[in-house]
Amino acid sequence: MTNESKLWGGRFSEKTAASVEAFTASIHYDSRLYRQDIAGSLAHAKMLVRQGLITAEEGEQIRNGLIEIRQEIEEGKFVFRPELEDIHMNIEKALVDRIGPAGARLHTARSRNDQINLDLRLYLREETDRLLDLLARVQHSFVMLAKRYLGAIMPGYTHLQRAQPVLVSHHMLAYYEMFGRDRERLRDCAKRINVLPLGAAALAGTGLPIDREFVAEELGFPAVSANSMDTVGDRDFAVEFVAVCTLIQLHLSRLSEELVLWSSTEFGFVELADSFCTGSSIMPQKKNPDIPELIRGKSGRVVGNLMSLITMLKGLPLTYNRDLQEDKEPVFDTLDTVSRGLAIIAELLAHMKFKTARLEDATQSGYMTATDLADYLVLKNVPFRQAHAIVGQTVAYCIKKNKELIELTLHELRQFSEAIDEDVFSVLTVRGSVDSRRSIGGTSILTVRQALEKAEKELEI
Ligand code: ARG
Repeated sequence: MTNESKLWGGRFSEKTAASVEAFTASIHYDSRLYRQDIAGSLAHAKMLVRQGLITAEEGEQIRNGLIEIRQEIEEGKFVFRPELEDIHMNIEKALVDRIGPAGARLHTARSRNDQINLDLRLYLREETDRLLDLLARVQHSFVMLAKRYLGAIMPGYTHLQRAQPVLVSHHMLAYYEMFGRDRERLRDCAKRINVLPLGAAALAGTGLPIDREFVAEELGFPAVSANSMDTVGDRDFAVEFVAVCTLIQLHLSRLSEELVLWSSTEFGFVELADSFCTGSSIMPQKKNPDIPELIRGKSGRVVGNLMSLITMLKGLPLTYNRDLQEDKEPVFDTLDTVSRGLAIIAELLAHMKFKTARLEDATQSGYMTATDLADYLVLKNVPFRQAHAIVGQTVAYCIKKNKELIELTLHELRQFSEAIDEDVFSVLTVRGSVDSRRSIGGTSILTVRQALEKAEKELEI
């Protein structure tokens, strides 16, 4: 036999070409699934014993062997062999080499097709919890900023043009909400990750008397997959997971864009800590926001990963196809990128300071209370469209006279509408504007304080 080192070598009369081994191997990235692979095998072996498919003694040998292998991997002593393709074969071969015939019984009623599906689900289940924690940390940073700067005012933008004044805290809590939805999405996606695939075997199930429910319970899966063919070909859960991560990355990237703008001299809204910026090798005066820039830049690879994954799946016939091995790198890279981004941004925010005087100053120009004036007219019974036109003319007048709305006299204002009275001035101030916005989800201090309390309760601060 020329292919004896392979666990599947029986049918082959020629040794696998070295180039083929190199081309098909995935061990250099799927070795990160070793813990999950071993956990799955431990549960599977336990079930095999219970079902009388292997003896208790064999089960014990398998168990000890697997635990030793895990230990070796953790200590960095285990040698992964590319010619053994993947994590499953590397571990199984090591087990057989170590304990002999009992090891050769582990793969009873199992295929790598359901095994890899299991490993990935176990892995993503754990990673979901880690991501949920990281997201909560980022949310926490926003709540802290919202608390610290409660009362501070800044311009709110649409089209990146000054639009209406808002509370800094309101802006911070906008991100709290965005990352909150990401958490919800992750939890939802976890429901579909959390289904036991093992027992689907190669594609059609098995004729051997296995107990899938027992394995599910051992591994903490609340459900067992329903259709063996669907199971081994299914990577929907991975797509969902990467899609959720892509949204997280987009949120990080939008935040980063704002941080880059805000820390520029032109805006001058925030001061990033020196310890979270970098300098220039030629321009001595520079302090660059490299962290947000890198996060923004890394969005490309995250979006790309999502594209690779869905494109890889697109044309696959049922059931398992080797193409599916290409799922892991995009999943892992997305996870690494997103979790590192979340961790660093939580820290950066904790060290960031708003320049409140400059922010307030920025609200004083740009006719940002124009909508308030229109709303004022509405309350004086002027139809909104008419009020809009009146205020439009008033703003045009301001531009001509180089004045802000608040600087106009009552006489000047009344040129545009008789409905305007002395009480108009309180609505023309920026604070008055902010404070009036008490609709649910609005930027008034009252509503923002409520939102902040709710956020604190949610995060158990
Ligand atoms: N390394 C493979 C993967 O990641 C494991 C399953 C291989 N199955 C097979 N029949 N070749 O998809």
